Amino acid sequence: MHILGIETSCDETSAAVFINGELRSNVVSSHLVHEQYGGVVPELASRAHQQLIVPVVGEALRLAGIEKERIDGIAVTYGPGLAGALLVGMNFAKGLSLGLRIPFTGVNHLEGHIYSNFIDLPGPSYPFLCLIVSGGHTQLILVSEPLRHTLLGETLDDAAGEAYDKVAKMLGLGFPGGPKIDKLASTGNPRFVLFPRSYLDDGSFNFSFSGIKTSVLYWLRDHGHLPQAPSFTPVGPGLLSDLCASFQAAVVDVLVEKTMRAAEQFGIRAVAIAGGVSANSELQRRMRQAADERDLSLFLPRPEYCTDNAAMIVKAGELRFAAGLRSTFELHAEPNLSLP
Ligand code: KG4
Ligand code: ZN
Repeated sequence: MHILGIETSCDETSAAVFINGELRSNVVSSHLVHEQYGGVVPELASRAHQQLIVPVVGEALRLAGIEKERIDGIAVTYGPGLAGALLVGMNFAKGLSLGLRIPFTGVNHLEGHIYSNFIDLPGPSYPFLCLIVSGGHTQLILVSEPLRHTLLGETLDDAAGEAYDKVAKMLGLGFPGGPKIDKLASTGNPRFVLFPRSYLDDGSFNFSFSGIKTSVLYWLRDHGHLPQAPSFTPVGPGLLSDLCASFQAAVVDVLVEKTMRAAEQFGIRAVAIAGGVSANSELQRRMRQAADERDLSLFLPRPEYCTDNAAMIVKAGELRFAAGLRSTFELHAEPNLSLP
């Protein structure tokens, strides 16, 4: 089967082609326009998707060595995400489906992240736990069989990636901040400031990251490092690395601890992580360490499949087609879609 995947939920226009279960192309065009605004501007994302969707799909088909007439099915993200951004991919997919008289299936973007662990690797066997850590979501999910998901816990406020991006902004590091904090933290002291760990000791697997973010803000304020301060002193390079390492340690401690607790409570032997923050070197290192200590199998997506991409959408789409799950033209973009 030749399947085309389309992803336009946020600030990456992406298309990928799978032929008989094998990834043949995955083109990702990131919208650099948002950098100057310190975050994704929805209207600019929609416009960029409109300009990029045709060339990106064309390039994915060219790299896969097929004409569009060879496509047998389309997998497209229908939520969650930015409404205007989702609409571009959805309308394109519907148009192509109608024009070529081929089926399409709407994919939940979070489902895509889970199956990013299976793109060109065998992936975990079922059941497994998946921690999705992205710019918009932090969710701990029990995947009992293909496409069967139970949400165990999620963030009650900021997503992990959102906290990285907000703290990076406070430190003047630009957007997106996750990779920059990751790099700076590698030379910093994670014990320089003990930022709070929100374990939410209610026995739940929920998360909270807004407290850590606010503590970083207060620390900068109390030490005269906010530009509004009368005795403002910029954060120097050594201090910057120490603050990044301390913030990152607080986030990673909670993510690893809660995931391991869930694995123990549910008797799960395989753990996967996914989403943009799963590319984080410290999260990967600490997850590996914790998994090894407990003799659990750990699965990480390849780096290019951690952040948003269409390969993960077409992988989830392939499972959906195999299960006979096709969408009708009644399917609409759902910005607030959650995992079923
Ligand atoms: O999955 P993704 O591409 O988009 C969403 O679905 O949200 O995730 C983007 C998020 C951003 O917040 C970005 O700062 C974060 O992933 N991110 C990282 C790293 N690479 C990307 N966070 C920490 N460390 C990284 N290396
Ligand atoms: Zn994502």
